[in-house]
Amino acid sequence: MSSPVTVIDHPLVQHKLSLMRHTQTSTAKFRQLLREVSMLLAYEVTRDLPLKYAEIQTPLATMQAPMLASDKKMAIVSIMRAGQGLLDGILELIPSARVGHIGLYREPTTHLAVEYYFKLPHDVEHRDILLVDPMLATGNTAVAAVDRIKEFNPRDIKFLCLLAAPEGIAHFHEHHPDVPIYTAAIDDKLDEHGYILPGLGDAGDRLYGTK
Ligand code: URA
Repeated sequence: MSSPVTVIDHPLVQHKLSLMRHTQTSTAKFRQLLREVSMLLAYEVTRDLPLKYAEIQTPLATMQAPMLASDKKMAIVSIMRAGQGLLDGILELIPSARVGHIGLYREPTTHLAVEYYFKLPHDVEHRDILLVDPMLATGNTAVAAVDRIKEFNPRDIKFLCLLAAPEGIAHFHEHHPDVPIYTAAIDDKLDEHGYILPGLGDAGDRLYGTK
């Protein structure tokens, strides 16, 4: 089985992504755009959330009103540090979600993922996980994060990124064919340093102005 890749090609997402790619876009603007895009992406990723019906009273009548089913608990897991840029906007839409953090950095020469922090909500086995990281480049980091999350047997895992490289998608599929990927775009390829082309540069540096 191969996990599907959903490209969220909504015009607002595409426009904002293009602004984020632009080298002249300031740190403050980049951060604001990522927050806005993260809400639009979350809107699509949560499209299949189940609803239940509850009786409510409007000013004029009672009705059976659709509400999110409360047993569908979510946890958003951010791969630090760039994942924080997606996390904040998503939490605005889903404030009841619990949050986990995985600290992974790419070893500069091998591009392998090295873990330095790991904390998930205690009841992960009762939750659906939305793992977030803006860039799916080599896929090493996302694969390592899902490896670790699976040790805790969550009900379901989805992976959300902003940009994906074909190499990263293939690598991720190979290891986690059961985890669907959601992204705003699939770019051309990786460069020799493992950066996505044309990409947007280093998402963490663009987000926090560290370069
Ligand atoms: N991480 C980034 O921030 N950018 C890339 O292009 C690849 C990995």
